Amino acid sequence: MTERFGHYIDGAFVAPATDEYFASTNPATLDTLYEAAAGTAPDIDRAVRSARAAFEGHAWSRLTATARGHLLRKLGDLIGEHADELALQESLDNGKLLREMRGQMRALPEYYYYYAGLADKVQGSQIPATNLDILNYTQREPLGVVGAIVPWNSPLTLTTSKIAPALAAGNTVVVKPSEHTSRSTLRLAQLATEAGFPDGVFNVVTGFGAAAGAPLVDHPLLAKISFTGSTATGSRIAATAAARFIGCTLELGGKSPNIVFDDANVENAAMGVIAGIYAAGGQTCIAGSRVFAHKAVYDELLERVTARAQSIVIGDPLAAETELGPLSFGDQLDKVASYVELGASEGATVHSGGGRPQLELPGYFYEPTVLTDVTNDMRVVREEIFGPVAAILPFESEDELVGLANDTEYGLAAGIWTNQLARAHRLARRLDAGTIWVNTYRAMSPMSPRQGFKSSGVGIEHGLESMHEYTRLKSVWINTDEGPVADPFVMRG
Ligand code: NAI
Ligand code: MG
Repeated sequence: MTERFGHYIDGAFVAPATDEYFASTNPATLDTLYEAAAGTAPDIDRAVRSARAAFEGHAWSRLTATARGHLLRKLGDLIGEHADELALQESLDNGKLLREMRGQMRALPEYYYYYAGLADKVQGSQIPATNLDILNYTQREPLGVVGAIVPWNSPLTLTTSKIAPALAAGNTVVVKPSEHTSRSTLRLAQLATEAGFPDGVFNVVTGFGAAAGAPLVDHPLLAKISFTGSTATGSRIAATAAARFIGCTLELGGKSPNIVFDDANVENAAMGVIAGIYAAGGQTCIAGSRVFAHKAVYDELLERVTARAQSIVIGDPLAAETELGPLSFGDQLDKVASYVELGASEGATVHSGGGRPQLELPGYFYEPTVLTDVTNDMRVVREEIFGPVAAILPFESEDELVGLANDTEYGLAAGIWTNQLARAHRLARRLDAGTIWVNTYRAMSPMSPRQGFKSSGVGIEHGLESMHEYTRLKSVWINTDEGPVADPFVMRG
């Protein structure tokens, strides 16, 4: 019989209000993996109330920041011990390579250790006053219940970017994982209980966007929403948050340029292009989906990228030799395939790939694809495809390149391949993106803040700055003069 999971609320698994469940599918084999609870508004209400009660309860609110740090460190240890189990759950669920998910899970404890260390370094300051009898200081406080809505492409990594700082700052959380990848988040919640987090501090409601995600954003007790996913859904969430005057942190789509200059090491640059668009099947927000190649190296780069793309081993994500697994679900495959068709109808050349590979496995596989003869006004160059599809465009001058690279709705990341120091720094300044990589691509660390510019997001994840996304600043004024009040009708300093 198929394994079934309820929501994780108040430290235990609970059945959904409707008693309805939905199946999660392995995108490589199309087998059913397990069933998760189909959350609806009453489940969200139960979870948010449990999180609010935990926020007010002494077991959490009376902990010192240092003690919260210890809990996060313990959770990091437990994730490290269960890294292979969590990686397998994610790989089965979303079809990404097992060794990619293992790498992510083994790196995950560092995120918890980083925020564990930050927990007791969040502090206010004493403000100079215009009146020497006034003591004015600030303090940073947690917000309350934080909602995290997360996609399927890197479930626990993206969840952690939100909940680790939120918990370190003293908030409680309700996570709504993607309907495609419920399993690892539920396991993480169990590990949080095992680590000693009080019941209700970390809740998970599984289910679909409209039925479970929307009521979370709408809940009157929610103090903040942190979302990663599509720009369209992010825009809807931001509108709801604005109507309720709650803060939102949004990490949205991208159409990131990966730029190769004529002075670059073209062999390394070609590998950087491969890493940017074919690693993880291109299903990452930071995919380097627009490749700009200087005319002098365009042919060589195209040849190297195409040769490597054609030799990519496609197949079972669990197998050690596989380099590209399936897309994560049927709609993703349809979307990627229809974008390639659209590109062809817009006049692009499908230089390589562009179809489904012949495999034993029945899953949602798609070939690594190279599009040429593309221009910046084509939809395949403007819109996020979220699959293994690179559009390669030539450029001649640096100014022309900057114009083309910045001519996009998005501003998440950019890669620059050059051996000229001045050019690297100049381009880093001129490119309109929150993360710039020079002679590398797809690097990430909990210490390095990242922000999506333009339609790629709002707010900051990672780094010291991310703690401020989960706190509010209070200013406290204390009059140390016990003498009589001089004139009650004028404003005081
Ligand atoms: P999505 O943005 O709709 O879903 C992300 C999360 O939001 C999921 O947990 C989903 O259940 C939830 N959600 C959906 N509608 C909601 C609503 N109205 N209120 C609250 N929560 C809601 O993205 P989806 O459907 O998973 O993927 C579709 C496309 O979105 C992809 O093909 C890709 O282009 C883009 N995407 C981009 C990501 C990125 O990191 N840039 C990540 C995931 C998807
Ligand atoms: Mg799945």
